[in-house]
Amino acid sequence: MATTVPERAQTEETEELILAVVRQLVVERVAPRAAEIDERGEFPMDLKQLFAQNDLLGIPIPAEYGGLGGTFLTYVKVVEEIAKACASSSLIVAVQELGMLPILIGGDEAQKKQYLPRLASGEWIAAYALTESTSGSDAAGSMRTRAERRGDTYVLNGTKIWITHGGLADVVCVFAVTDPSMGPKGIRAFIVEKTFDGFNVGKKERKMGIRGSPTVELHFNDCVVPAANRLGAEGEGFKIAMRVLDKSRPGIAAQALGIAAGALEYATNYARERIAFGKPIGQHQGVGFMLADMKTEVEAARLLLYEAARRCDEGASDVTLWAAMAKLKCGDVAMSVTTDAVQVLGGFGYSAEYPVERMMRDAKITQIYEGTQQIQRLVISRSLVGKGPR
Ligand code: CAA
Repeated sequence: MATTVPERAQTEETEELILAVVRQLVVERVAPRAAEIDERGEFPMDLKQLFAQNDLLGIPIPAEYGGLGGTFLTYVKVVEEIAKACASSSLIVAVQELGMLPILIGGDEAQKKQYLPRLASGEWIAAYALTESTSGSDAAGSMRTRAERRGDTYVLNGTKIWITHGGLADVVCVFAVTDPSMGPKGIRAFIVEKTFDGFNVGKKERKMGIRGSPTVELHFNDCVVPAANRLGAEGEGFKIAMRVLDKSRPGIAAQALGIAAGALEYATNYARERIAFGKPIGQHQGVGFMLADMKTEVEAARLLLYEAARRCDEGASDVTLWAAMAKLKCGDVAMSVTTDAVQVLGGFGYSAEYPVERMMRDAKITQIYEGTQQIQRLVISRSLVGKGPR
């Protein structure tokens, strides 16, 4: 049901209070750490604690399951604010959400009560394990991880790759094939705890950006999962995975938007102060027009993202389309704006002494994960003209 006007005013007031707190935390605690987090490539556990203490890890999770009961719009704005200063730190909020969504969307009442409060409070860390070495974009068709029913358990075998926070997670929502003859309908989702026998963390990736957000392989070697931990009905696993991405892609779009906005702000301040040929470089048309285009792109991306988030809140039937458009636009804007920010700073932009170099490296992943830009275009075009035969 659409939000009524007084309810919306109340929501906006609450949202402003939350954002005021987040902006202060970002200035005082996140921004001063951003360069060091990137340099050391370490997960900032202190910031995870800080976000948990400030109730930022379960913003759109209903209060009955320990969340804040806020809107998706507030959630994306929080991710954006953090990403303006530190893309890695924004993932603490975004990936916790991603890991909780399969339980929120596909879980029964007992599963929600058992897992969501600990995750929303930040006591436990969550991850989402879909991708495999042969199945990135073709998530359903090429999945190899198997889940075999044995009595009251399922036994999982296989390897997942590129799992953000997989090595830190207490709980991982894992997708596995129960019946290979059934295509996407033969996939099931499971809640796997790190203490389950046969759950092993593998290689940690060395990455271009988001270096403070560890990405690992997860190995399931006869990993025993109670049947009570499977999510949704038979045949529903892949749909759960996709419905999760409909809600989590706006979070990655928000990260991308925040990176772009942070780079724009830095480049603008620089262009006001740096003098060349007797005046600030921003007042030379070559740089001034670049800044004008960057600003226009950031604001256009923001409008698209906030509309996608509103549609998530309203339970609109076209969230798949809007989530894909928001991720596509914000990811591309992040890449182009950060590249231009480096250009505005010239040689200094290319130096690790200045943040725009890190922002440009961090931006790239937003065009790749949670579905490449090519996959977003596929989703958008299918919504226009259908899928057609394989
Ligand atoms: N909601 C509900 N159901 C959906 C759906 C959605 N959004 N999208 C698809 N489905 C359903 C379809 O209706 C279909 O069911 P029926 O047969 O009953 O109609 C079933 O799922 C199969 O759908 P498709 O035929 O469309 O499947 P496909 O094989 O053509 O693939 C795809 C679709 C969009 C390409 C999908 O595979 C995809 O999104 N790929 C990209 C994967 C991805 O984004 N991975 C990100 C990993 S997570 C990550 O990156 C996180 C991180 O590190 C931070």
